[in-house]
Order: sequence, then structure tokens, then C-alpha cells
Amino acid sequence: MSTNVPDTDTETHADTDAQPAPQQRRLAKKRERREHSPQSETSGDTDQETVELKVFRYDPEVEGKREPRFDDFHVPFTKGMTVLDALIYARDTFDSSLTFRHSCRQAICGSDALFINGAQRLGCQTQLSDLEWPVRIEPLPHQEVVKDLVVDMEHFYEQMDAVDPFFKDEDVPDGLEEQRQDRENREKIKMSTRCIWCGACMSSCNIAAGGNYLGPAAINKAYRFVMDEREDGDVTQERLETIEAEEGVWRCQTQFSCTEVCPKDIPLTEHIQELKREAVKNNLKFW
Ligand code: SF4
Ligand code: FES
Repeated sequence: MSTNVPDTDTETHADTDAQPAPQQRRLAKKRERREHSPQSETSGDTDQETVELKVFRYDPEVEGKREPRFDDFHVPFTKGMTVLDALIYARDTFDSSLTFRHSCRQAICGSDALFINGAQRLGCQTQLSDLEWPVRIEPLPHQEVVKDLVVDMEHFYEQMDAVDPFFKDEDVPDGLEEQRQDRENREKIKMSTRCIWCGACMSSCNIAAGGNYLGPAAINKAYRFVMDEREDGDVTQERLETIEAEEGVWRCQTQFSCTEVCPKDIPLTEHIQELKREAVKNNLKFW
């Protein structure tokens, strides 16, 4: 029985001697999960199947809803349905007070990062057919819950702000002349530019949960500028001072949880390690 997501890259691993890149490993894992998922045996045969969602509920402003609990929703399953589709159906059909964030529905806006069956994932990027059923849906761990599946992202945004996630005036020459970047340098920073600020990596990191660590997303953002050849040297120096400070890169214990959950497959742990090396080089003194 075929699954509902086409297998597009069967030739990818023809070279068995080569070490698969992290992204290829993750894609292979996803394929494997699909093939062994009980739903993949039946999905597509009938539109009448029902998927059970167990959804975290909490509302501090409503009497009787202040005690966290799980509600069950039974949603008709259709081929290609995502977790976000199922949540929208549940809200529109059964309970209009069910609260969660979403916008683009195509893994671009980063607003629907959730804790789905025990892992941080985007609701709109996660196929129900790839999951064990019933599907358990919770807010991102290590964040304060505002209501139901909505968490307070304030701390995450503060950490991103701490690394000044933008080019600075010093980088923009008079008259706004075009600044070219060579192809190799673009390739080097390409993955780091893909961040959609979803917060999944921060939520997965138990060092960040302690509250005094910049976290993988902010450090990746610093990497994106430090490694960009167009950035002014003095600005790079300031950034390095931020990331090598007490709450910076040295707190990372290379657990790889951030890299595992990032929906854009950014090699976060590798970027953090590379910035550790830059920080060491930055402090070498020769007499
Ligand atoms: S680095 Fe990945 S997981 Fe972290 S905020 Fe950006 S897109 Fe989300
Ligand atoms: S709704 Fe925008 S990333 Fe999922």
C-alpha cells in the first residue's frame, strides 16, 4: 500500500560509502516512520477513518478551565491531512474556544510549533499519517502557557534581539551601493538564513530551559551575520563578544536536540561549535 507522500528521492543514497548529511538522515528517518506507521497501511483507502486527537487545554481566565486537562476530538481523516488541518477542523466543528496559533500553513511563518506525540514539530508540516494514533498535542515545553496550545514567546524574542538580528549601519556603504557576496560565502550561510523563528529548538534544549542561555536560534542568527563576508569587522567583533559571554556558546553541551527538531533542518549544533572555535580564535594573543 502506498503512503500519501510520494517518495521523491530514491536515488539519493546511491553512494553508500559517503556519510549521509544530517538532512538526508532526517529525511530517511521520516520515510522509515511512514513505512512502519500503522496508518500508512490504510490511509487513502477510505475518507471515513477517524483520527483521535488528545489536545491539551488550559484557560487561566475561565472558571472551571484553570486546571490543565486533555480533551479528545474525533476528526474525519482524509489523505494528506496535517495536524494543523485536524486542529482547525476540531475548532471549527466541535469547540470554537480551542486556541492555537497558525498563519501560512506552509512551514514559513513559524507560528504553529507544537509538541506533537512528544516532539517539537510544526502542525502544518506534520502529516497525520506519519504519526502514531491517537495523536497527543501539547504546547511547546519550557514556555509559559497563555491558553490551550498558545505559549508566551517573549523570552524567545528577547534572546533573538540580544544578538541584533540585522545588518547594521556600518555594513551599508554611502549611497546604498550594491554589495556583492561570492557564491561560496552564500553557500556557507545558506542554511542559517532559513530560520523561521518558530522556537522549536529553544523548547527542545534543556540548557535553554534554565533561562540563562541565548539558545540555538539566537546563536544561529549571530552565525548568519558573523560568517557573512559583507559584515563590517567591528560589528562582527561586537557579535563575537555577545556570543562568547557567560550566556553564550559555552553553555551548549552538544546534545543535538535543537538540530533534531528544527523544521528547516538547520545544522544548529554545528553552527554553535563553529562559533566556539571563532570565539577561541578571537581571544588568542601572540606576544
Ligand atoms: S533554528 Fe529552526 S527550530 Fe530554531 S527557531 Fe529557527 S527554524 Fe525554528
Ligand atoms: S502555519 Fe505557518 S509555519 Fe505552520
